[in-house]
Amino acid sequence: MTNDELTQHLAGLPVSLLHRLAKNRVHRHFRMGKTRLIQSLLALSPGQRAEIETTLTSFLQEPPRSSKPDRPAKPNPQPDAPPRPAPPSRHHHVPTEPAIGTKALLEGLGVPPPRPFKPDDWQRDAIDRLTTTDVILSVPTGSGKTYVAIEAMRRAIEAERTVIYTSPLKALSNTKLTEFSQLFGADQVGILTGDRRDNPQAPILIMTTEILRNLLYDAASGEIDMRLDTLGLIILDESQFLADAERGVVWEETIIFAPAQSRLLLLSASIGNPDEIAAWINSIRSTSCHLIHHRNRSVPLRAAYLDPSGKLAPFFRARDIAHGKGFVLHPETKRLFANYEDRTLGPRYRR
Ligand SMILES: Nc1ncnc2c1ncn2[C@@H]1O[C@H](COP(=O)(O)OP(=O)(O)OP(=O)(O)O)[C@@H](O)[C@H]1O
Ligand SMILES: [Mg+2]
Repeated sequence: MTNDELTQHLAGLPVSLLHRLAKNRVHRHFRMGKTRLIQSLLALSPGQRAEIETTLTSFLQEPPRSSKPDRPAKPNPQPDAPPRPAPPSRHHHVPTEPAIGTKALLEGLGVPPPRPFKPDDWQRDAIDRLTTTDVILSVPTGSGKTYVAIEAMRRAIEAERTVIYTSPLKALSNTKLTEFSQLFGADQVGILTGDRRDNPQAPILIMTTEILRNLLYDAASGEIDMRLDTLGLIILDESQFLADAERGVVWEETIIFAPAQSRLLLLSASIGNPDEIAAWINSIRSTSCHLIHHRNRSVPLRAAYLDPSGKLAPFFRARDIAHGKGFVLHPETKRLFANYEDRTLGPRYRR
């Protein structure tokens, strides 16, 4: 095969087959993308190249899986013996109960009607702690972090302290303005974002974290038309942004420059290292920082496969995602994906 022919054949293969060709021939091939894999295969010694050309030819001659004739059944060596159990599969055991349908997957999705609830222990703990310490609330999405934020705001207002609530997004800030105005009254809530400046003297101010950081900068230089000495509570929602490569510094500086008398409440469903963040806040602020962290999901995740054709299918046979256990893909998802591979790669490459 000429170099060009080989390149062309390799380029037509899915990456999984390129890795098969590279196995034991290309050092650390599993770290490579398609282009580097092809370059490495082309650079092999003449002997190894001959080997991959042979394997490649067998790949190309392999009939498409779907048209492979079924293997004839092996005769049972002992006709009276009970049928041999199937050998243990490398894959997970396929359950016998029927796979769920798309309707069942989507059932119950939507915003539930508001119902009164009893706060969980961790919520009460967080609210109590905030009277004396900063708090990091690192709990899964939909757990009720907002409840803690609202109760802490209520307490701060009762104590005649002001509150700043920050979010990383203008859209989220606008949503919170509506939500907090309904709860506390429109005159009690103001907003400061790049696009909006309403009621800036209100005791509850919503702003993007960048605006708060800039306010704290201005306060440090003595140029500010807002009182910070009565600021009782700073809520940093979506505080996993601390880890953001570009914007993280804004969260960091906000925490560093936060007035000593203000309590900090950091909310997030996805901080990877909350204990390290708590230790850091402990080390730079005069107030201690208490971490509340759990992983109990009150809203289970559901996974679906959206095929490029627009069809939606459950990703797994069962509705809930099995954590840490084996899982079985949904037959409809498998079928849709196999069709997709056939259309885009050609059936012979499907594994
Ligand atoms: N203890 C509770 N028991 C039952 N429902 C609760 C409880 N606490 C809060 N809720 C309800 O749970 C829903 C989700 O709460 P919330 O929006 O505060 O979640 P969150 O933790 O902020 O999630 P996200 O990470 O997505 O921002 C709300 O409708 C809220 O009323
Ligand atoms: Mg929230």
